[in-house]
Amino acid sequence: MKTIAIDSLGSIDAAAKEFAAALGENRIVAFYGSMGAGKTTFISALCRYFGVEDDVCSPTFTIVNEYRAADGDSIFHFDFYRIDSLKEAVDIGFEEYLYSGCLCLIEWPEKVEQLLPEETLKVTITATGDESRKIEIEND
Ligand SMILES: Nc1ncnc2c1ncn2[C@@H]1O[C@H](COP(=O)(O)OP(=O)(O)OP(=O)(O)O)[C@@H](O)[C@H]1O
Ligand SMILES: [Mg+2]
Repeated sequence: MKTIAIDSLGSIDAAAKEFAAALGENRIVAFYGSMGAGKTTFISALCRYFGVEDDVCSPTFTIVNEYRAADGDSIFHFDFYRIDSLKEAVDIGFEEYLYSGCLCLIEWPEKVEQLLPEETLKVTITATGDESRKIEIEND
């Protein structure tokens, strides 16, 4: 388990850089954490680190957003909070995205647990104060 501590929003970019280094070859990242824990905010910082210039926000109405990283690769950002069944994830082609080799960043992975490959990197974000967060990366 690797833990990254964020003291305040001002250090989120440094944390994202450290996180990116810890990613290694992992391409599928599941972000656990309660509502408002900071999943979207951290994913946004991570995308910024990868050179994404698009607006990174929760894909509320679409389930998935696609961004373009500086190296030209796609980054897929999922938010499964609103889905009611696994079928909705299957129907948008979630598994094709997972096996695309592109970075897949997933909010509310609990909703699609059964579809997540074994190599999924599990990350938990916990609020420890107003702007302080603990990011735990589960390495096997
Ligand atoms: N260090 C921090 N990291 C992340 N968010 C922070 C931090 N400090 C303050 N915040 C604030 O906490 C809120 C986190 O909201 P965010 O939408 O990122 O949460 P979320 O986990 O994606 O919630 P949801 O489950 O609703 O999608 C934002 O208002 C953000 O500005
Ligand atoms: Mg969110």
